[in-house]
Amino acid sequence: MQFNIAALLGDGVGPEVATEAIKVLEAIGEKFGHTFKFHHGLVGGVAIDISGVALTEETLEMCRNCDAVLLGAVGGPKWDDPKAKVHPEDGLLALRKELGLFANLRPVKVLPMLVNSTTLKPEVIKDVDLIVVRELTGGLYFGQPKKRWQTPEGRQAVDTMVYSEQEIERIVRVGFEIALARRKKLTSVDKANVLESSRLWRQVAMEISADYPDVELEHMLVDACAMRLIQRPAQFDVLVMENTFGDILTDEASILAGSMGMLPSASLAGIPKGGASKAFGMYEPIHGSAPSRAGQNIANPIATILSAAMMLRYSFNLITEAGAVEKAVLEVLEEGYRTYDIMETGKTKVGTKEMGGLIAERLIR
Ligand code: IPM
Ligand code: MG
Repeated sequence: MQFNIAALLGDGVGPEVATEAIKVLEAIGEKFGHTFKFHHGLVGGVAIDISGVALTEETLEMCRNCDAVLLGAVGGPKWDDPKAKVHPEDGLLALRKELGLFANLRPVKVLPMLVNSTTLKPEVIKDVDLIVVRELTGGLYFGQPKKRWQTPEGRQAVDTMVYSEQEIERIVRVGFEIALARRKKLTSVDKANVLESSRLWRQVAMEISADYPDVELEHMLVDACAMRLIQRPAQFDVLVMENTFGDILTDEASILAGSMGMLPSASLAGIPKGGASKAFGMYEPIHGSAPSRAGQNIANPIATILSAAMMLRYSFNLITEAGAVEKAVLEVLEEGYRTYDIMETGKTKVGTKEMGGLIAERLIR
């Protein structure tokens, strides 16, 4: 089969890690007889430097004409001025909104050989295998009104947390569908003791649960969830939540896996069924552009490579191929290869290109 992939490598370490994911996808193509065609475009700071905006209409159109988007990372100190009119992150938010990527999947799995690379006790994190389903195109990020103004008494600002029942229903369904293909437990996270939007969220989640009698649904307040995530993280299977809660809790959850350099993500425009789909999606590592590490061939490409595996599973419905990438990553780690962020004594330290190369080689040999 042939697939068209928009490759937006972005800023900082983005191009380095995305290049390794492309290498791995090419190896998958060779082994399984698929053709992946990469269409390069600019997003983030590099786009601002050249065109004055973080995402051009042209690049957006190119993404629309592809089957999926592979994104490296955006941002850097050069574009950080809070008074600037454009920010690299605007490109990311525009892609999410314009491409209708409402479902953000962020799996956190603690690999047995990496239990010692976190600051948390091994016995707390050892069986962690959870996935956060974050709503990505609504809530405080996009709700109107959203503005700042001057009053005689001083400045004021407002952001709006607004959700329609349709928006809640489709993301909660993603949570249920993913839970069905896993351990069949769904935790819906809200702040229903205070927020009206959360009360609607909880009500809709309860209504939808009638369609999924095999999935156990629990509701958890977001503050309690923040606590549980580091107290007893192994109890979670699938968590579903609104945009801002998901932003905050996924940074917290990333600590469980030891390094941000290990965590992939998928942002989908459709609802996966049976743990896979052909939905349009954008795939990127959870970590940022890490400007201080850029250009040194040290960044861990595994998060981006695992994001490419998610692309195979959730946009191309290629489950065997996705599994092959994940297995190759595990094997390379089992053999003791480590990038700097997960390095331990007695292991072999490798750079970005070497790590990508080792994983790609396993796929074609
Ligand atoms: C994330 C990031 C983004 C977000 C930023 C870069 C706009 O923190 O993907 O979690 O807030 O969604
Ligand atoms: Mg975030």
